[in-house]
Amino acid sequence: MTLTPALTDKLKNPRIVVAGGFTDGKWNTVSSRGKVFRVSNPATGEVLAQISDLSTKATKEAIEAAHAAQPAWAALAAKERADLLKGLNRLMIEHADDLATVLTLEMGKPFAEAKGEILYGAAFIEWFAEEARRVYGDTIPGHTANTRITVIKQPVGVVGVITPWNFPNAMLARKLAPALAVGCTVVAKPAAETPLSALAIARLMEWAGFPAGVFNVVPGTDAAAIGEELCANPKVAKISFTGSTNVGRTLMRQCADGIKRMSMELGGNAPFIVFDDADLDAAVAGAMASKFRNAGQTCVCANRIYVQSQIHDRFVARLGEEMARLKVGDGLEEGVTIGPLITDKAVDKVTELVGDARDQGAVIVMGGTPTGEATFYPPTLITGATKAMRLAREEIFGPVAPVFRFETVDEVIDLANATEFGLAAYFYGRDIAKVTRVAEALQYGIVGINTGLISTEVAPFGGMKQSGFGREGSKYGIEDYLDIKYLCLAV
Ligand code: SIN
Repeated sequence: MTLTPALTDKLKNPRIVVAGGFTDGKWNTVSSRGKVFRVSNPATGEVLAQISDLSTKATKEAIEAAHAAQPAWAALAAKERADLLKGLNRLMIEHADDLATVLTLEMGKPFAEAKGEILYGAAFIEWFAEEARRVYGDTIPGHTANTRITVIKQPVGVVGVITPWNFPNAMLARKLAPALAVGCTVVAKPAAETPLSALAIARLMEWAGFPAGVFNVVPGTDAAAIGEELCANPKVAKISFTGSTNVGRTLMRQCADGIKRMSMELGGNAPFIVFDDADLDAAVAGAMASKFRNAGQTCVCANRIYVQSQIHDRFVARLGEEMARLKVGDGLEEGVTIGPLITDKAVDKVTELVGDARDQGAVIVMGGTPTGEATFYPPTLITGATKAMRLAREEIFGPVAPVFRFETVDEVIDLANATEFGLAAYFYGRDIAKVTRVAEALQYGIVGINTGLISTEVAPFGGMKQSGFGREGSKYGIEDYLDIKYLCLAV
């Protein structure tokens, strides 16, 4: 048995997942001699599947398949590629419940959130299906009377895509869609904790009729070996990675020899600033949405909540009331809003950060100790946080809301920017001059102003500083998969 009843019994159509790699349109399923790895439900510890544990050899094969398939894929009319992507979008929506169930089971996020992620992923597929037909070039007046200059854009080639466990569907969809839209082919390495969502996308692509080799998936536990092959293999033209800044650094080093193109969506340390003139209810709602989405396990989650002195106590009281309503539990249970953390290691890290804050004088208003059950961690509210604490510098990646008190606009801008990260920032305030000034001063790729929700396929998602480079989504997201060429014609 490669998929267990803990998974298949919960699906309307269990055929949506296959327990193997997907290369050149064929499934590499578990053989009696092959190495396998287990995928487990973090909420219960139950084993969901045993998947072929692939490594360098399988990665090379997948790259060969993608490389062989790329010229014919690029030669299709943009509309033909767009139609296939639209078919995938329709299948994702049709099977959204099953895809969300798979996601909740392997990753832990509550079912309603998982379904939101599936629709978010499907929206990227739809967006880039539409953009496929708008990869426009340019004409430039020639530099002499007898030259004509034309700019054309061409697919970079094979793209190696490395995706994280926290959004196993949407992060793959937003890389896959622009790549395929412009005529690139893809080899994907999903996180070992959550390969099933990527395999389900491959299954839907098979059903949608994508040609063999256009999309390949290499599941495996040896992320270092697979990543190294993707970075070093000269047949891969570009790497698109979402994950930690540390892994991003390693991949950059490995891509250096081949001067390989990269897009990197790395770690964050988002400030969430509440000024005295903020709409209190809106600020609390925004903080809840930004902090507790995916149990605090997103790169854009509010990591440091800065609250100006006059509104501080009222904000903390209201935030505490809202946090008390959160329900921790198995993501498939009705009403659950906070699922488990991904692993025991994640619980240990959050526990250490909270312990360090407590040791340095922070007040733990709520939560603060692991529940002891599976990998659940309770919503935790901390006041009196300071910049000396580790949670001011490190990504918490858990349901912990540390509140820092501040006095002036200049002070909070300095505090907010005092990090090597620059992915997302948020602030609440109503004075238009201050709003403009703060928005321009924050050194972040994404700034939410009077909102805690900034994720959408229509906007350019990406960071500054050590949060990476490149943009995903929007008209900008397609450029990362294109080479610009100019044709200089003498007449
Ligand atoms: C992330 O956490 O890396 C992505 C979150 C998002 O797209 O909203």
